[in-house]
Amino acid sequence: MGKERVGLVLALLLMSFVISTSSSDEHQLRWRKSLFSTATTSSSSSSSSSSSSLLFNRVGSSLLFRVQGNVYPTGYYNVTVYVGQPPKPYFLDLDTGSDLIWLQCDAPCVQCVEAPHPLYRPSNDLVPCEDPICASLHAPGQHKCEDPTQCDYEVEYADGGSSLGVLVKDAFAFNYTNGQRLNPRLALGCGYDQVPGASYHPLDGILGLGKGKSSIVSQLHSQKLIRNVVGHCLSGRGGGFLFFGDDLYDSSRVVWTSMSSDYTKYYSPGVAELFFGGKTTGLKNLPVVFDSGSSYTYLSHVAYQTLTSMMKRELSAKSLKEAPEDRTLPLCWKGKRPFKNVRDVKKYFKSLALSFTDGKTRTLFELTTEAYLIISNRGNVCLGILNGAEVGLQDLNVIGDISMQDRVVIYDNEKQRIGWMPANCDRIPKSKAMNT
Ligand SMILES: *[C@@H]1O[C@H](CO)[C@@H](O)[C@H](O)[C@H]1NC(C)=O
Ligand SMILES: *[C@@H]1O[C@H](CO)[C@@H](O)[C@H](O)[C@H]1NC(C)=O
Repeated sequence: MGKERVGLVLALLLMSFVISTSSSDEHQLRWRKSLFSTATTSSSSSSSSSSSSLLFNRVGSSLLFRVQGNVYPTGYYNVTVYVGQPPKPYFLDLDTGSDLIWLQCDAPCVQCVEAPHPLYRPSNDLVPCEDPICASLHAPGQHKCEDPTQCDYEVEYADGGSSLGVLVKDAFAFNYTNGQRLNPRLALGCGYDQVPGASYHPLDGILGLGKGKSSIVSQLHSQKLIRNVVGHCLSGRGGGFLFFGDDLYDSSRVVWTSMSSDYTKYYSPGVAELFFGGKTTGLKNLPVVFDSGSSYTYLSHVAYQTLTSMMKRELSAKSLKEAPEDRTLPLCWKGKRPFKNVRDVKKYFKSLALSFTDGKTRTLFELTTEAYLIISNRGNVCLGILNGAEVGLQDLNVIGDISMQDRVVIYDNEKQRIGWMPANCDRIPKSKAMNT
């Protein structure tokens, strides 16, 4: 955060000084073998066949992106976004848990991590410090404009990772679902100093989908290009889709609950009661947020302890044994024979549910075994619910990708509500022009 470095970046931006960064695009991070790529059938297909028709495609003003990735073994989902003139592709982590869009950037880069594409070369269109988007990235009182011509930012993520840089505006290239092109100029972070976090992802940057002013949805909405709605459908077999706008789903089929205003930064349906096997665990008033940037689900310390001891008690009478030697996740169990699929262990585990109360209505967010268990590469079954206290989440309970698979999850900022419905996420709504 030194002033010197900031000055340097500014100078280099203005001279559009460019140091070529080769090699970074040569690294192919294909060593991870996808467990799901060959498994085309799944127990969720029963629900998906009936629900796929729920996604209808009215020609309209939505943006639709194909998503790649999976919870395990990859650990993240990514979308391709085109930025610059001419537009160049970047693979970005989709993150409803943060706002800023940033790319690893050749400003030049002080510290960048290995990425699939060459570093982004920033436009010289600096976002001024007074810009409301810049102010939104700083805590009230922390927004100081030493140099009014530029906006320095630093974002930190729950996994300890961070990005430091300067905001620029550049052209993005998208297609509406009806094929019409759009090239809005949006603010993005030119990240020239990144610290990888514990869950480091080999991507070009992060696509912030949060509620804040700097997020891509907020920016597109403030330019009147889309409705302020974002949704995703992450497939348990890997891949899926992401969309902005409200015309790719039938709202009457969605289970809606109101969005809590207690969190300015996160999408939260409020507080929940946790059920295990259809019975209450006695855990109530658990504040919950939805975060597509998190692969696994996190419970606060007490909830985690209560749930895991209930599970252990259940399993003690069954033929599963704890497998501490498997370090895939903190809690794994082995069977008599290695497991291939979560279906193989369904009989040992009960489903979970979070119950939200919205006025007089109760809505349930169910977690079937697929929504909280994975099969490790050693053939053990591991709990995809982790203790949030160990990563500093305090009393927050975070619904991660594992628990959002095989359904459409919608964050409707227009009507201040969050919704979900089962869906076949392998079936991408038809559109003339995908933003692949
Ligand atoms: C990200 O998604 C693209 C397709 O959109 C895919 O080709 C690529 O392999 C993915 N990148 C990573 C690092 O997973
Ligand atoms: C938009 O559609 C055009 C024409 O089909 C295609 O050439 C272009 O690559 C698309 N752009 C994006 C960002 O997907």
